[in-house]
Amino acid sequence: MASSGEPSQDKIHHYESVNDIPWDIQKYWHQRHDIFSKYDDGIWMTDGAWFGVTPEPVAVGIAAHIATVSPTITTIVDAFAGVGGNTIAFALSGRWERIFAIEKDPHVLACAKHNAEIYGVANKIWWIQGDCSDVLKKRLARVVKEAVIFGSPPWGGPGYRDAAVFNLSTMQPYTLKALYEPFSKLSKTVVLFLPRTSDLNQLAKYAPEDKDLCVMHYCMHGASKALVAYFGDFAFD
Ligand SMILES: C[S@@+](CC[C@H](N)C(=O)[O-])C[C@H]1O[C@@H](n2cnc3c(N)ncnc32)[C@H](O)[C@@H]1O
Repeated sequence: MASSGEPSQDKIHHYESVNDIPWDIQKYWHQRHDIFSKYDDGIWMTDGAWFGVTPEPVAVGIAAHIATVSPTITTIVDAFAGVGGNTIAFALSGRWERIFAIEKDPHVLACAKHNAEIYGVANKIWWIQGDCSDVLKKRLARVVKEAVIFGSPPWGGPGYRDAAVFNLSTMQPYTLKALYEPFSKLSKTVVLFLPRTSDLNQLAKYAPEDKDLCVMHYCMHGASKALVAYFGDFAFD
């Protein structure tokens, strides 16, 4: 599947049968059509990406909510693009003049580009392989001031599920502070995708003095999948 100059295919898969799949991702494979409705068209994943990909209905909901930001903001940056769950939804929304997708793992980025092709939106997205903190500060320094920064960082593995209240100051490899503080210096509009049990008191510390901080749960099949914290001027219903 990979052509010359692209990452080798050994870490990229389109699994068609549960028998081909490592045991620890079989549960996610059964949810494949919730994750990508076009899975059967040949979606690519790395084995690690199954744990963190945003399911399509959740990604579409988030894209619709972010779209309510001031119309003067026409650029969005997906700082942790993964295999493209959120990036593709941003592109499908038709709301953005420019979409940048940053991903540090070249195999994962190759999956995202390929998946965006399946959804017919790959050419609406600028793909950047690298560390988002470098890319935002250097390559995107000029555009990011007037952009939404969306971040769905790794949460440190499935252990987050065991916590009744998830401590965002122990999130690995990036704590809430390590994410929010640099991002908010670059843009006034920051959206973070976080574990559903995230400690709201820790988020509230970053609420602007004179404004509400909006936090939304996104549910599927009657259960919250994640919460999203919206810093900036959004016009939610
Ligand atoms: C939870 S996943 C994102 C999932 C994505 N929203 C999706 O739907 O596919 C987090 C991604 O961030 C990438 N990542 C981790 N640290 C990064 C960094 N400093 N810069 C850019 N990408 C990073 C990981 O390789 C991983 O693919």
